[in-house]
Amino acid sequence: MSSAHYQALEPQTSDEDNEDIERRPHQKHTRCTAATAAAPPHPMVRKGSVGGGRRRCVLPLVGGTLFFIAFCYLTLSGDTRIALGLGGASEDSEEASHQGLDSMNFRPLNESLHVCSENFEDHRQFMQDKPRSDYGQLPVIYFVTPTYPRREQIPELTRLAHTLLHVPRLHWLVADDQEKCNGYMDTLLNRFGIPYTHMVSPMPSKFRNEKPAPRGVANRRAALQWLRQHNLTNGILYFGDDDNTYDLRLFTEIRKTQRVSMFPVGLIADYGVSGPVVRKGKVVAFLDSWVAGRRWPVDMAGFAVSLEYMAQYPYVNMPYKPGYEEDLFLRSIGLKMDQIEPRGNNCTEILVWHTQTKSKKIGMVRLESKYLDDRSNLGALLLNLKLMGVAGTTENEGRNALISKNGREKSHSAILS
Ligand code: UGA
Ligand code: MN
Repeated sequence: MSSAHYQALEPQTSDEDNEDIERRPHQKHTRCTAATAAAPPHPMVRKGSVGGGRRRCVLPLVGGTLFFIAFCYLTLSGDTRIALGLGGASEDSEEASHQGLDSMNFRPLNESLHVCSENFEDHRQFMQDKPRSDYGQLPVIYFVTPTYPRREQIPELTRLAHTLLHVPRLHWLVADDQEKCNGYMDTLLNRFGIPYTHMVSPMPSKFRNEKPAPRGVANRRAALQWLRQHNLTNGILYFGDDDNTYDLRLFTEIRKTQRVSMFPVGLIADYGVSGPVVRKGKVVAFLDSWVAGRRWPVDMAGFAVSLEYMAQYPYVNMPYKPGYEEDLFLRSIGLKMDQIEPRGNNCTEILVWHTQTKSKKIGMVRLESKYLDDRSNLGALLLNLKLMGVAGTTENEGRNALISKNGREKSHSAILS
């Protein structure tokens, strides 16, 4: 996570405070209640509806409800509680530093998942100068890429594909944040020859206008669902956004993942980096300029998970909670600090960069439609750009498209008739 502007769910505390909280987990309830009373509810938390005048009659009801919640809390297993965002039992009691996350908007993984096209066969002959067969039975990396329609989408995916083309034993899960399958993308993905699944899973409309919106969550959830539907308990899961830059050594490193591996991500927020602090070969803490109560303050690209390990956690989840996706996902798989495998030469190297592409709105080319035929390349070119979501054509908006020759503007009819 990189966005320092996300609002913390509770006031940020100093390291000392956090340590103190960790030592006093019983305070969780008290602090939580105080926070609820003082702070306005988080937009994603459903509001209570108890009216002032009715308070007295409602008291027994509230008492009963609280008793019921306490009963459920005590009877649910630790993992279930984590998955439901209720804070689970943990060996080191660190969950106490997460009060405020208790009201996390939990939704089971039941996204509207639709597979557009899929290919399980590897059509590549060589990778990194070696024939495919040389890579034998290495564990497969399931590389999950959430993506969404905008004018940079196809170029981003092309750039990413040209990295992935070098990576053996990889299945690319491309999950598009939109309703309809984009046929152009099917063709593109097929052409690369990398095994892939192209699916669509749009962000629920109620989140669309939120600021910040839970970007890439519906689609990552859909990919998690796909993995579960395929009963995959062998291989490595990695969330690779479409705009990051990946060093090929990353793939060698994450393929070794036994449970959860972590490594620094470059170009994150104020420090230009986010990642684990390692002492004597063990992850002991994290360096990230935005803490906000996150137990695992890491970027989505800063960790990989073994599917065998993940399979032990039936309530794997990534809630629609902007800024907290990584933290809550890692909590849903019961991660413990001493289980983390530091990678990238004990987290001293950068294997992935949080690059961001400048975004612009779709271009508009004003040209009479009669010229969009096969008398020139322009008809086919502009059609391709339209299919890629890069540019559209218009007959009457804005200035006529500039067409020039020898440094001089020419009329469309002079060149295209
Ligand atoms: C950072 C992290 O690197 C993301 O992994 C994290 O999801 C995100 O913050 C967040 O928590 O909001 P950032 O560069 O700020 O990423 O966000 P984007 O790159 O714009 O979006 C993350 C991913 O979601 C991208 O792969 C993007 O294609 C996808 N996305 C974005 C959608 O699927 N739908 C959207 O509406 C926007
Ligand atoms: Mn990004």
